[in-house]
Amino acid sequence: AVPSPAPLVQPRLDPPLRPATATHEDARELAASAATLDELRAALERFDGCPLKQTAMNLVFGDGNPRATVMFVGEAPGEEEDRRGLPFVGVSGKLLDRMLRWIGLDRTSFYITNVLYWRPPGNRSPTQAEVAACLPFLKRHIELVGPRLLVFVGGAAASALLGRAEGIGKLRGRWFNYECPGSTEPIRALATYHPAYLLRSPGQKREAWRDLLLIKDKLVELGVRHNP
Ligand code: URA
Repeated sequence: AVPSPAPLVQPRLDPPLRPATATHEDARELAASAATLDELRAALERFDGCPLKQTAMNLVFGDGNPRATVMFVGEAPGEEEDRRGLPFVGVSGKLLDRMLRWIGLDRTSFYITNVLYWRPPGNRSPTQAEVAACLPFLKRHIELVGPRLLVFVGGAAASALLGRAEGIGKLRGRWFNYECPGSTEPIRALATYHPAYLLRSPGQKREAWRDLLLIKDKLVELGVRHNP
């Protein structure tokens, strides 16, 4: 008998593996396509790559003067921020506003946002995945505001944007260069304690005061007028 031909082995045409970072690529593309802050906010409203959006009441985008020389970046919205859709409007925000007034800054002269655009349930710390999902938007946010001075309010912002492993105790009070993708010059960046930490550990306010004076001196060096 004639042996039957070996079955033809069809190459399997599996669909290409979806890279684990697909969402982050979507985030990068969406963020990069925003040419203005309004477009960036609209892009975040369309973005579904951060599950916190499902549990939060509001997107907390930013506040203050989008043409300011100095931009502050906190960690994540809390309850009051989530309710009002504005960053740093709860107890911590009130302390931060009071501290910044000491060096002549208010929301007409600074801009402020967070690493996360939605509130983590129960104010828990952000996960790495949540930070990674929001980071392309935050980087574009910084590019679009174009500050000359960046202040990381707390360890979450400092490590997300500087990519360094040290805790805030080691990072605060030192100048860093933040390499902004859209600009040839790095942005001078300083980390300081988060006001929620200062509320729990008022003894650290001395160090925070030193950081404020560094910000004030840097603004003078940059030729920014302020009204202390
Ligand atoms: N803490 C933050 O880091 N951001 C806010 O907006 C409020 C509290």
